[in-house]
Amino acid sequence: MNKAEELSSKITSVNTFKKYGRVARVVGLMIESKGPESSIGDLCIIHLSPTSRSESKILAEVVGFREEIVMLMPFTNVTDISSGCLVEGTGKPLEVKVGMNLIGKVLDSMGNPIDNSALPKGLATVRTEQSPPNVLTRPTINEKLAVGVKAIDGMLTVGSGQRVGIFAGSGVGKSTLLGMIARNTTADINVIALIGERGREVREFIDRDLGPEGLSRTIVVAATSDQPALMRIKGAFTATAIAEYFRNKGMNVMLMMDSVTRVAMAQREIGLAVGEPPATRGYTPSVFAILPKLLERSGTNEFGAITAFYTVLVDGDDMNEPIADAVRGILDGHIVLDRTLANKGQYPAINVLKSVSRLMNHISDPEHVKAAEKLRELYYTYDKSEDLINIGAYKRGTSKEIDQAIEYEPLITKFLKQGYKDNISMEESIEELIALASAGGHT
Ligand SMILES: Nc1ncnc2c1ncn2[C@@H]1O[C@H](COP(=O)(O)OP(=O)(O)OP(=O)(O)O)[C@@H](O)[C@H]1O
Ligand SMILES: [Mg+2]
Repeated sequence: MNKAEELSSKITSVNTFKKYGRVARVVGLMIESKGPESSIGDLCIIHLSPTSRSESKILAEVVGFREEIVMLMPFTNVTDISSGCLVEGTGKPLEVKVGMNLIGKVLDSMGNPIDNSALPKGLATVRTEQSPPNVLTRPTINEKLAVGVKAIDGMLTVGSGQRVGIFAGSGVGKSTLLGMIARNTTADINVIALIGERGREVREFIDRDLGPEGLSRTIVVAATSDQPALMRIKGAFTATAIAEYFRNKGMNVMLMMDSVTRVAMAQREIGLAVGEPPATRGYTPSVFAILPKLLERSGTNEFGAITAFYTVLVDGDDMNEPIADAVRGILDGHIVLDRTLANKGQYPAINVLKSVSRLMNHISDPEHVKAAEKLRELYYTYDKSEDLINIGAYKRGTSKEIDQAIEYEPLITKFLKQGYKDNISMEESIEELIALASAGGHT
């Protein structure tokens, strides 16, 4: 087809009709309208009455139908809507702009700079909803990716394109750890989604945890807790779409999402508003449908890789909470942050005994794997006997293993500790780990 034919076929296929409906009812979060003809996920523009105090139009998404009624979820808090407002169907789902020029920027869920500055020129347009890469064309993961955190690079080595959950209660050091990874990793670019945090926390994360040097190789997408549920969900999808764009350019992308639990909570809000039945702990079935849809999009494809860290809030360190359970089943590894370690001042508070990287043995040298296993066993032995040791009920010489574990414990703890400003290369971490394992506990 030549250029002229191509253009003419485009012109003839353009739909020149605009489809409209009218707002009929607003119930809680949900706007119900008669028309327009549309599909689930389509974006609609609701034109407010000319006398409205704030904006003249708001965006909403089609989330369901009830007989002839279209159910719409707004992207903004709605105050000025009235019955009869015009609803214009756009016939397509949410799209965002993306490109290299976004690096260093903080965006909202719609992909606009949060400081209201203009978007740079020359950006591509992508849909926020995409299918995960085809399982058959997805390359397997063979390469390690350094994150610059000793406990992870040494004991829980992550592969380029691996997806890992970080399970932690509140205030145990998730944001600090994500900041460290963003600054230290050898990945080409970071995309960080901050979902459901308070506004103050977003600022703190960018200024303190990420810092200017971290931000200079990062795109942040932030949807704070005061924003409508739909915006919080879209934040996760927008960040994933941005990461996918860079993966398709052949890059090695680091995607971090804090937190998936808040995305699930936002979906629960929408699910309940649409009339879904609550299932496990009030979470509706659509929550468990959205999680694999979101989390399966990271990983490798034929062009590049998205290595992803997803944080999951575990209240009272209950690892069997439904979201934690669902997420753990989808991902290829989990890192558990432990409050008892944080209370002791052991940061990053990674509990290596409860954490696992399912790919470590496959991507690391046998010598490294053996050393990590040895230290893990010694640490486990110490952990099992710690109470006895602490109350003085254990007598040295009773068990060779426990004696060795007691000797090793301070060395392993020292290895796992890392100042939050320290950037340690993966080679250094592995070298130190192997030296420690072969020293026989007498270093
Ligand atoms: N690597 C570290 N070194 C020293 N202190 C740390 C480290 N990581 C966390 N902390 C301490 O723990 C506090 C909480 O950390 P952080 O904000 O990262 O936790 P969080 O899990 O993100 O919390 P929230 O659940 O509130 O988001 C920090 O203010 C700091 O005092
Ligand atoms: Mg935090």
